Amino acid sequence: MKFFVDTAEIDAIAELNDLGMVDGVTTNPSLILKSGRDILEVTKEICELVDGPVSAEVVATEADDMIAEGRKLAKIAPNIAVKVPLTWAGLKTCKTLSDEGQMVNVTLCFSTNQAILAAKAGATFISPFIGRLDDINLDGMDLIADIRQVYDNYGFETEILAASIRTVNHVTDSARIGADVITAPPGVIKKLADHPLTDKGLEAFLSDWAKTGQKIL
Ligand code: E4P
Repeated sequence: MKFFVDTAEIDAIAELNDLGMVDGVTTNPSLILKSGRDILEVTKEICELVDGPVSAEVVATEADDMIAEGRKLAKIAPNIAVKVPLTWAGLKTCKTLSDEGQMVNVTLCFSTNQAILAAKAGATFISPFIGRLDDINLDGMDLIADIRQVYDNYGFETEILAASIRTVNHVTDSARIGADVITAPPGVIKKLADHPLTDKGLEAFLSDWAKTGQKIL
């Protein structure tokens, strides 16, 4: 399973990247706003830091403008994945750019039918949003499972990028279902290491070690 980090904060990406936990990065207009950075500058810095795909999102709503924005974003670095929303204009942009050999991440996916369209348009990644479905009392994880089944039924090669991940359980469940990638905020990825029994066990070991009076170094 690949881990993408869902942020445009360079320091947070670098910290996880040093630990080998970053297979890619996803950004969106809200995350760019949060970073306070210029999209072209910060995306270039992220692409220099991380080897894997870095999603940068178009903001136009008409296909011609989306395609132009996508081509401009793609020029930032070879590891850019152009992110487009799941609209017909976004799908047209996906088809055009993927035919040119460009990685494309189709985002804001909330249904299995939308995911089928993205795969047929040649998407490299489909981003179903788990948390936002949970927010309206639907089950985001059911969507991941349905897309997994349908993609496997037909051998679609589009990778399922489980997005809008809010909890560590979303990560576990995505892994169980077989999502190819999760993208999560740095805080969620860091929480994956936490377990109270690990803390308790370590405390006991260190307490007993102190009583031995020994040193390793
Ligand atoms: C995915 O690519 C999106 O950037 C992200 O996961 C959205 O998450 P949110 O619903 O927590 O904003």
